[in-house]
Amino acid sequence: MTILLTGGAGYIGSHVLFACLAAGHEVVVLDDFSNSSPAAVSRVRELAGGVVTLYRGDVRDGKLLADIFAGHAITAAMHFAGKKAVNESVADPLDYYGVNVGGGMSLMRAMAAAGVFRLVFSSTASVYGERVEMPLTETSPLGEPANPYGRSKMMVERVLTDLCRADPRWSVGVLRYFNPAGAHPSGRIGEDPLGPPSNLIPYAAQVAVGRRPQLLVFGNDYPTPDGTGVRDYIHVMDLAQGHLAALGYLKERTGHHVWNLGTGRGYSVLEVIRGIERVTGQPLPWAVAPRRAGDIAQYWADPSLAGKDLGWRATRGLDDILADHLRWQQQNREGYAG
Ligand code: NAD
Ligand code: UD1
Repeated sequence: MTILLTGGAGYIGSHVLFACLAAGHEVVVLDDFSNSSPAAVSRVRELAGGVVTLYRGDVRDGKLLADIFAGHAITAAMHFAGKKAVNESVADPLDYYGVNVGGGMSLMRAMAAAGVFRLVFSSTASVYGERVEMPLTETSPLGEPANPYGRSKMMVERVLTDLCRADPRWSVGVLRYFNPAGAHPSGRIGEDPLGPPSNLIPYAAQVAVGRRPQLLVFGNDYPTPDGTGVRDYIHVMDLAQGHLAALGYLKERTGHHVWNLGTGRGYSVLEVIRGIERVTGQPLPWAVAPRRAGDIAQYWADPSLAGKDLGWRATRGLDDILADHLRWQQQNREGYAG
């Protein structure tokens, strides 16, 4: 089948592109390269072969989307295009709601006009807000996301719910990612953030290769076993397989479906640091700093619904995530520009 990937040159999109091509699908990628490089798509082509058509453009451009749907026999879309930097979203909420909510709605409109109703959407565990009971299940009540980025994702989730209620032809899979990290094991594609990374594993990996002097641990006084924040890190290759599994499920059914994509196990910041030291055999320089505003002490997924519905589960653990992330960073010290 032919699948449209918006944002298919980005970190997660490029790994899903690999998985789609490896599974024999044809893919159309739409990306404006505002946070990625066309090199990611070329490298995936080298790794997987197959047929990819690449469009440079904005997902909010309805005319471009109409042309893309008219030019290809697309039967499903996966929507990755969007902005994801929490600090930026606080500073420029209009941009974040414009791209994330406006972009999502532009895609939904173009899909409906083209008669394509199967959509997988990248959401986030941030929609659960701050909760005490762990693990998080899909039926846990949604909370108040701590920032405009999280709220923009929640808004798109709500639009999709309403759309499925209004028109029974839609078949929608909302994937709530926990903390994606890692890279394709070849080291050819991976996460390439612009500027200093804000997430733990990309930052720590840049410290490990000597690109940054030390990691700051944001708070060691949380109510967690060692006082540092606990997260459910999920390998991006496992995440990519989750997308294919969701697409397969949606082929047989209509309606609105939500799945957590996580491992079900949380690791603290100090456990991640020790993991990196294990993988590199070198000490990782770090120091304790104050808590980061808006951070939550701990959260991890109950991924059992994805297991039951999709036959999917994460197969890679923390050491695989760290080894693969570090390999990408070592081989591409400056990312795709290096
Ligand atoms: P990314 O920034 O690497 O990828 C997003 C891609 O979308 C980039 O290639 C960017 O150039 C493109 N893009 C941005 N605005 C666009 C626009 N208006 N038109 C066309 N293309 C546009 O991010 P990612 O980590 O791959 O995340 C993919 C999706 O998953 C995003 O929607 C993100 O919010 C969501 N998500 C990511 C994480 C994470 O930790 N990485 C967690 C939860 C959810
Ligand atoms: C962050 C975002 C969240 C987004 C998610 C995507 C914030 C407040 N939240 O979540 O909206 O959906 O990324 O993956 O930015 N840490 C350090 N030092 C660092 C970086 C992080 O100690 O340099 C700690 C954090 O305090 C946290 C853990 O590492 O305890 C993980 O942080 P991070 O990778 O940024 O992910 P989230 O906070 O879960």
